[in-house]
Amino acid sequence: MTKQRETWNSHWGMIAAMIGTAIGLGNIWRFPYLCGKYGGATFLIPYIILLFGVAIFAMMCEWVLGRHTKREPLGAFDKIKFPFGRDIGAWGIVGPFFLYSYYIVITSWVLFFVFASFEGLYFGKNTETFFASFLGSKWIFLAHFAAVCITSGILAMGVQKGIERACKIMIPTLFVLLIVVVIRSVTLPGANEGIEFYMRPRWGGLLNIETWVAALGQVFFTLSLGMGAMLLYGSYMKDEWGIPMNAISVTLGNTSASILAGFAIFPAAFALGFGAVIGGAKSIGLTFFVLPKVFEVMPGGHFFGGIFFILLAFGAISSAISIQEPAIAWLKAEVGWSRKEAALFTGIILWIMGLPFLLNGFVKGGLGAKLALLSKMDIIIGQLAIPIFGILAIIAVGYFMGDRGFDEMNKNARVKLSHTWIKFWIKAIVPIFVAILFILTLLKILQENGVIPAIILPAKEIGFTPIGITPMTVFMIIFVCVVFWGGFIYTTAKVLTIEKDKKARVKRGLAHSR
Ligand code: ALA
Repeated sequence: MTKQRETWNSHWGMIAAMIGTAIGLGNIWRFPYLCGKYGGATFLIPYIILLFGVAIFAMMCEWVLGRHTKREPLGAFDKIKFPFGRDIGAWGIVGPFFLYSYYIVITSWVLFFVFASFEGLYFGKNTETFFASFLGSKWIFLAHFAAVCITSGILAMGVQKGIERACKIMIPTLFVLLIVVVIRSVTLPGANEGIEFYMRPRWGGLLNIETWVAALGQVFFTLSLGMGAMLLYGSYMKDEWGIPMNAISVTLGNTSASILAGFAIFPAAFALGFGAVIGGAKSIGLTFFVLPKVFEVMPGGHFFGGIFFILLAFGAISSAISIQEPAIAWLKAEVGWSRKEAALFTGIILWIMGLPFLLNGFVKGGLGAKLALLSKMDIIIGQLAIPIFGILAIIAVGYFMGDRGFDEMNKNARVKLSHTWIKFWIKAIVPIFVAILFILTLLKILQENGVIPAIILPAKEIGFTPIGITPMTVFMIIFVCVVFWGGFIYTTAKVLTIEKDKKARVKRGLAHSR
């Protein structure tokens, strides 16, 4: 590529854009529904372990690959001479299409709820029935078309700088509004049960391999890993920015939003009579019938609901853009198309790919039946395909880039990772751990289909019996608040101070003395 590559303008802008691609439906729609399905804190524990044990390293490896090669996924794997690099890198272009195909459908639900909130369409109604009837109406086509046009239109304009600027305002505002919704939710009469469900681990559930695989998929999904996006965004990162601390800051910031979403949804779900829905076939739509009920019981609910869904739409669109962008970057760089042509072409393909999910909304039956196709696709892509591609970035850096990769990871970083330690973790621990999870899942599938004898014990039904807020529940609440929210504030302040110091030293002409 002869053209100078764009980079993020400022450090805070880069963090905001990275959190912008990470924060989206994965936090506010997918995290609560999986967390509900696998037993609240029982899901949260594997999620936290896999976040810090696997995903954060995968993110650093994607940034390393992107920044070192300055290429989009296909070119990046090729450039480091990864075996079948082009074919594997091609997944980073094609795979996100499958993800986008249903992701944008959920984005279109959000767009509809912006309008529905301001107009008060669901106020005073059964929100579950309201949502189901929207799925089988002409509005879904309109909202879906609008969502595809928005992402393709923004990408056609070449908005990297625009995304950065918008994320700096929208992401902090989304946090503020989320906090307002959490306050309303946890102060509803009967909210305690939801807090207890969300924060009290039922240890038996940890023996369920499905919980771990779902958590693995979620940590990759939520950080936009294994979908080409972080790798590409890493290629826009400046060399002066150290990777490890930024990775911690983005991981904590993103997870803070997920944790908040859980506090917004579970207390309200239990308080407003949706407790029984959690974990069932229709729970994939949980966010879309619980949150509207919260807005209904909130002063100024029309307004707050509308603004909240606008911000969520922003989070969803900024993520959807990063999922569509790798294909556009590839068409531009390697096929020679203009940005506009590439955006139009990918937009048309992606619009067509979304249609089956819309048509599923017209089947007879309840909400569960209308969401069945989307649920299946989310398991295939979100739980299986994304982690597999995400792990390839770890293998590429660990085994094919070797010291070049680890040097890139530590380049200009104030907090450097020990080569011995990071090599061992990335080359051995992470792949072995993930391989065990996948092998156990495969065995479980074979066992369930009678291909092999029963060797894995069936998971115990963990259920949920309210017993009141226990000391363990209180410990978990304090732990997540301190680690995620406190940690995010601390690390972000730290990286920004380091950046300021560096700038000051450059100004004083002392930069070379490092
Ligand atoms: N990371 C994006 C999200 O969670 C894909 O929505």
